[in-house]
Amino acid sequence: MANILCIGAGYVGGPTMAVIAQKCPQHRVVVVDINEVRIAAWQSDHLPIYEPGLDDMVRATRNKNLFFSTEVDRHIAEADFIFVSVNTPTKTFGQGAGKAADLQYWEKTARQILRNSTTPKIVVEKSTLPVRTAEAMEHILNSNSDGLYFDVVSNPEFLAEGTAVRDMENPDRVLIGARDTPSGQRAMQAIVDIYSQWVPRERIITTNLWSSELSKLAANAFLAQRISSINAISALCEKTGANVNEVAHAIGMDSRIGPRFLNASVGFGGSCFKKDILNLVYLCEYYGLSEVADYWEQVVKMNEYQEARFVSNMLSAMFNTVAGKRITLFGVAFKANTSDTRESPALAVCRALLEERAEIVITDSHALDNARADLGADARRVTFEPDPYAAAAGAYAIALLTEWSYFAELDYQAIYKSMVKPAFVFDGRNILDHRSLFKMGFDVYAIGKPPLVHF
Ligand code: UDX
Ligand code: UDX
Repeated sequence: MANILCIGAGYVGGPTMAVIAQKCPQHRVVVVDINEVRIAAWQSDHLPIYEPGLDDMVRATRNKNLFFSTEVDRHIAEADFIFVSVNTPTKTFGQGAGKAADLQYWEKTARQILRNSTTPKIVVEKSTLPVRTAEAMEHILNSNSDGLYFDVVSNPEFLAEGTAVRDMENPDRVLIGARDTPSGQRAMQAIVDIYSQWVPRERIITTNLWSSELSKLAANAFLAQRISSINAISALCEKTGANVNEVAHAIGMDSRIGPRFLNASVGFGGSCFKKDILNLVYLCEYYGLSEVADYWEQVVKMNEYQEARFVSNMLSAMFNTVAGKRITLFGVAFKANTSDTRESPALAVCRALLEERAEIVITDSHALDNARADLGADARRVTFEPDPYAAAAGAYAIALLTEWSYFAELDYQAIYKSMVKPAFVFDGRNILDHRSLFKMGFDVYAIGKPPLVHF
């Protein structure tokens, strides 16, 4: 039996450890966090995050071999493996503000591990970090005078929210990077042994530390780049009468391109894409690679353009004024099947419409509480309504911003009746049946398609 500890009980730490606990009943898994409210929620019937399949998994393992605690120091002392998944947000101050990763929690955690250790440990980087962070981690940990040795291994997470449990149970690959020293290789093997309890060995790839750290940033940059690429094409489609769905289908059939991550949208959101690309941009600038930095930064700029373009299209369709008009946002989570609203394009759209003095109603099955918190002072000017029908009643327009499948199954005939005419639908995810909405009387605007309008 090994003692596995995870520091950081967030969207990554929680689901990752729940799966490890279930797949490795012989190990004892503890998840700690400085946030008492969050830990209390992990111990309750209302987990702090919504993720399909997570409730059952936690219920099956909690207080058997999965534990949640705020006693960070004590559990560090007992641990053999320490996974670190504290947040590494974009720096908001000083050098690199707006791009570089803020590593203060990371470094604090390293020092806390050192302070509370009396035995050697394997420290696993789970958080996404700038390349060569492991070096700093090793330096701090091995600065002790007690002869304690720490191995630092990189094992980036590739789970996507909404499918986190499935991604962990059945990953495309698990990536483990370590030093090419006997001790580094032993540490790497120990992590391989954990994953090989359920992941086929050929899907566990091992690399050097820096490849592993960089692969995580690069994977997210490539994924985001695909969305920005198809969104760039969507703007051109709207000018030319081409249909972005048809274009995406046609190019996706090329096996070299492939069909996934080609859904044009109001923009990508989430805690990772923007943060990781900006982090990559900062690293390139740091190493004097300004052309490379500009190339990747454009992926983020394209995303901001897509959000702004969506709002401009709404404004011009609605006779250049939305002041005082009730507008209903269908969805506020950054994507379907999650309660997470971090960097959600829906919030950007909401703020821009508030700027235009629209009266905003937001409906979402799981994300209203997070949205209320994110909007801060602006939340006072927004109505939060879990029932989509009540939310849409009396509205001039619906803007669909999250691809929750239940939005496609609503009774739009009834919704149309309850709205102010002309009634507008702006489908920021292209999931609705546009032709049938148009036949019901709606004026329909989708991403990258000719609008369907009655006048
Ligand atoms: C985080 C990182 O943001 C991401 O880059 C990485 O890939 C995985 O970890 P996430 O799990 O979504 O992602 O973050 P979040 O939900 O904010 O969880 C981090 C947790 O760490 C929070 O609950 C926070 O309270 C906790 N934390 C932070 C500590 O326990 N100690 C600290 O010193 C700082
Ligand atoms: C991402 C990576 O996919 C994951 O591997 C990594 O570990 C963390 O970051 P996540 O942020 O949870 O995961 O969500 P993801 O499914 O990648 O979606 C990101 C955003 O892109 C969402 O706002 C989504 O709606 C949007 N998106 C996705 C599109 O607009 N079009 C697409 O075709 C796909």
